[in-house]
Amino acid sequence: MKIKIKREEVAEYEVEMQNATLLEVLNEIKTKQDSTLTYSSGCRSSVCGSCSVRVNGKEVLACGYKVQNEDLVEPLRNVTVLRDLVVDMERAYSFNTKAKAWQIFQSKNISLTMEDEKRNEVQSDCILCGSCYSACPVYAVNEEFLGPFSLTRVWRYVSDAREDGVHAKIDNIQTNGVWDCTLCNECTMVCPQEISSKADIEKLRSKSAMLGFTDPNFSNFGGDFSFDGSPSF
Ligand code: SF4
Ligand code: SF4
Ligand code: FES
Repeated sequence: MKIKIKREEVAEYEVEMQNATLLEVLNEIKTKQDSTLTYSSGCRSSVCGSCSVRVNGKEVLACGYKVQNEDLVEPLRNVTVLRDLVVDMERAYSFNTKAKAWQIFQSKNISLTMEDEKRNEVQSDCILCGSCYSACPVYAVNEEFLGPFSLTRVWRYVSDAREDGVHAKIDNIQTNGVWDCTLCNECTMVCPQEISSKADIEKLRSKSAMLGFTDPNFSNFGGDFSFDGSPSF
């Protein structure tokens, strides 16, 4: 089986392995053929999120993906490549801080019901693998976009019954946030945890509208709208 790996140039390797994960193949190449090959891994069981790469243009976890002949493996996009398949995720993670993706709590003394717990279960499963961030096309035009995993985290806390800072959180994601998403769904397609950041962003948009915020692109349009939805000036 032949596998191609994007390093400074695309390198090709032949391996005699069947039904192997990409991580197993990378380990085989590193130990038996080329000790300079560099990649990240940790848990080997789709839990730590450190082995995310792109195969044939789609983000996958190397420890979960079964290699096919002629696969092309590349590092994640929208991040700085440090070496081979290892990338610097620091800037991507900094959007969690910019989005204020944490709980404020404060005065509310509310116990969560089972239903409340269930509502936030999915978003809490994010393993910060960065696949959605790599797949998001918005970074090609706006490097300051808060991005899918950070906005998913914001929704996780905005929808928490105990959260006291909902208005401040929603206010904070109006610029480079919810309205910059194209709703293309690429983030959802690649998430190994089956989280739909697109759906979470749509919910954040609804919450924004409920709190009186509007899409700035829409309001910049400048005209009034007639009953059939067409602009009138
Ligand atoms: S749905 Fe939005 S956040 Fe997700 S990849 Fe598309 S533009 Fe990015
Ligand atoms: S939302 Fe999914 S794809 Fe994005 S970082 Fe979290 S686990 Fe990875
Ligand atoms: S090695 Fe931890 S998710 Fe792949």
